[in-house]
Order: sequence, then C-alpha cells, then structure tokens
Amino acid sequence: MFSDFGSLRRFVVLCLMVAPILGQFTSQCFTSGVVGNCSAFITDFCNDIANKSVSALNSKSECSNTPGQAFTFTMPVLPCLSAVLVLFVKFLTLNILPMVALQTVLRSNTNIARLPSGLVALFIGATSSGIGESTLEHFAQHAPASCIYTVARPQSAAAHEAVLASLRKSNPTTTITLITADISLFAEIDKIVAAVGQKETKLDIFVTSGGFMAFEGRKDTREGLDPSMSTRYYSPLRAVQLLLPLLNAAPSPRILSVLAGGKEAQMNESDLDLRDPANWSYWNAAVHAATMCTLSLERLARGNPRLSVVHWDPGPVATPGLAKWDKYGLTPPNQRSQDEAGTRGAFLATSDRYAVPGHGGLVPVPEGLGGVNKSGGGIFLVDADGESVDNEGVLAGYRERGVDEVVWSHTEKVWAECAARKDEL
Ligand SMILES: NC(=O)c1ccc[n+]([C@@H]2O[C@H](COP(=O)([O-])OP(=O)(O)OC[C@H]3O[C@@H](n4cnc5c(N)ncnc54)[C@H](OP(=O)(O)O)[C@@H]3O)[C@@H](O)[C@H]2O)c1
Repeated sequence: MFSDFGSLRRFVVLCLMVAPILGQFTSQCFTSGVVGNCSAFITDFCNDIANKSVSALNSKSECSNTPGQAFTFTMPVLPCLSAVLVLFVKFLTLNILPMVALQTVLRSNTNIARLPSGLVALFIGATSSGIGESTLEHFAQHAPASCIYTVARPQSAAAHEAVLASLRKSNPTTTITLITADISLFAEIDKIVAAVGQKETKLDIFVTSGGFMAFEGRKDTREGLDPSMSTRYYSPLRAVQLLLPLLNAAPSPRILSVLAGGKEAQMNESDLDLRDPANWSYWNAAVHAATMCTLSLERLARGNPRLSVVHWDPGPVATPGLAKWDKYGLTPPNQRSQDEAGTRGAFLATSDRYAVPGHGGLVPVPEGLGGVNKSGGGIFLVDADGESVDNEGVLAGYRERGVDEVVWSHTEKVWAECAARKDEL
C-alpha cells in the first residue's frame, strides 16, 4: 500500500524535473555568451527528446516556443501537471498509488532461505556496484544451498571476484561461479550458456541487468553492433532464447530483466537497429532497446506459458552507471540507493506475486499484498515500487500491426549476421 507518500512524491518530482533540467541547459547556453546557435549538445538533446530534427537554435524564446519548431521546452509540463492532478484526485478518493513497502520486500527475501535447496540462478550484468550486483548480493545471502552463475567482462572480473569472495563467506552452502565474458558481444553469449549448460539440468532464475546510456556516441563493437543496444537487448534476448530448455526444466522459472518495463515508446520501425547516423541517438537507442525487449520477451513468454517474465523499470538508482549522467547535467532527483534497488530486485526475482498463475513455487506472496497484472502480451511490466504498469497505449498497437514479429525477424537477422561474421573476427 502507499504508506509514506514516497510514490507520489517521486512521481511529482520526476515529472517536474524535466523543465528545470531543460532550463538549466538553456540558461547555461545563453548566459555563457553563445549567441546565434546553441551548443551541439543542446541541439542533440532537443533532437533526442523530440525525436525530430531541430534546426540551429538562435534564441531561448525561439528554442522554447516558436511555432513550427520541432521542440518546445514547455511541452512536457502540461501533460505532467495533468497527471499530477489525476494523482491528487486519486489521493483524495483514497484510490492512491500502491507500492510494495520496503519492509514487506525485506521480510519476503528472508523467506528465500526456506525454498528447497538446489536453486540455479544466472546473473548477467551484475557487476560494477550496479542494480544487478546488489540483486545478486541480496539473493545470494539467503539462497539455500544453490548454484549461482555470474558474468563479468575481463576488466571487471577482479573487482567482481572480491564481492563474490565475501558472498561465499556469508553463505558457504551456496556455490558461486564467475564466468568471464563480455556481454556486448553476441559470440560471448554462447560461451555463457554453454558454461551453465555443462553443469546444470535446469535454470530457476535468470536476472539480466547489463547496459548503459551511450552519451559519448555510437562506437560499434567488432561485431558491428551498438554496445548500448547489444548489452540491453540483443545479448540478453539471445541468452533467453538459448536458455529456454534449461528454464523450462525448472518448476517455476523466472526471468527478471532490469531495464525500462512500461517505458516502451515509439520506435523508428524502418531502422530498428538505428544504422543510419541520422536516426541514432543515445535516447533512441534506449527507447529501441526497451521497446524491442518487451515485445520480444512477450513473444517468448507466449511460446513458453510456464515462464514468468518480469521487465522492471528500477527508476533512478544511485549506481556508477547513473553517475555518468552527472557529466551531462541530467542527474535525476530522488535516486534510490543501490542497496534498496537490489533488495527489490531479489524480491522480483523470487516472489510468487510475479509467478504465472497456477505455476508458483518460489517465495509465497506476502500477506495483504494484492496481485499484479500482466501486459496484454503476457509479461509483468513492473515499476520501481514493484507494481504493474499499463503501457497498452503503445504496446497494443505494435502487437495489432505485427510489429512484435517484425522485431523478432529483425533480431534473428542481426544474430545471423553476427554469427556469419564470427570466422572473420
Ligand atoms: N541506474 C539507474 O538509475 C537505472 C534506471 C533505469 C534503468 N536502468 C537500467 O538498468 C540496467 C542496470 O543499470 P545499472 O545502473 O545498475 O548499470 P551498471 O551497473 O552501470 O552496469 C550494468 C552492467 O552492464 C555492464 N556494461 C556496461 N557497459 C558495458 C559495455 N560497454 N560492455 C559490456 N558490458 C557493459 C556492466 O559491466 P562492467 O561492470 O564491466 O562495466 C555491468 O555489468 C541498465 O540497463 C540501465 O540502463 C538503470
């Protein structure tokens, strides 16, 4: 239940932060003596937000509100204020935003220890003091005589190994195996899946949390993919596809994707991979990765009806990944700690609240906690507070027009191209 006004406060601040952030950039630009043209960064930023081309910006007022200009700084304020008004009405009628209280999450996580021993879990993207690593820590400290696999690229392996050493001490019954692989590369996913498949006959939990915002621009991997998209979409989905036999062999299989569930948006359907430099931006790469992720996970969930799939938007979390946003003046307010995000991540990965109906078998739903809805495509899109999100306004149209199938064909084509290039590399 919405107990401490946290959800409402976070929502209001997040909505209203858009204007101050933009104001900050415009005033920086126009008080720093740049006249006649905004900095490339502001123009790029406008392009990203409006998803349109913006001509050179000559004055703050032109930048803000000129009719016909592709971008207006005041654009997000009205919808945000309307949303805040709706929330207030809901608040007054006591039909207010629900959230899973942190205490409830903590209590549920202690029950992970009561699950039958022998759980098998795989984490990719769980390094660097990020949300995944914290989720791994919160899961591993309770996991009952389990086998956990976690992946780090070579440059992060030593730091990750130090975290694992301390986890092994805190829970000596659980085996934790480090696989060294770079998840930005398609070929490395085969290596990860093979390492798990050689030892295990099932996989209960798969947590994928790799990814980053490519503020510095698109710098393709040697396989020719944008790493900000391969870490967030092409590699995790390839892992899911290859892991399906192991997941289907588990009694209550669960996938937790830490990315942006519920934040799906309009894509450039004629350039899903954003190959054309005019189409690529860090923002578009994030939108495409998140939207393709939901559509493809839904497609896989439909074909594997016992599989519970949670696509989570953790909201702003104070991780090294988010710290990069500082450099660009984009730091969001009201960030959660990495520890709280990991606590909630472990809950989402283990609570039967997010099980396919009739196929529970992990941690029982805490008393008093209501259910969550699935998306029209059959997965749980979950917000920072653990509640389901409805984004059918975007997703239903995509499904009706068969865009989910187009996305999947595109994805398989990209994978096939990477595989064909393997021998050349
Ligand atoms: N933090 C937030 O506020 C927030 C909010 C919404 C969504 N998200 C999403 O949630 C996920 C986890 O976020 P986080 O902040 O916890 O991220 P993070 O810790 O900065 O990084 C997540 C993982 O991605 C790997 N990675 C990053 N860049 C890579 C590259 N170029 N090649 C290969 N691997 C790379 C990292 O490996 P290394 O340790 O080797 O770098 C790490 O394992 C991300 O997809 C992020 O976009 C985050």
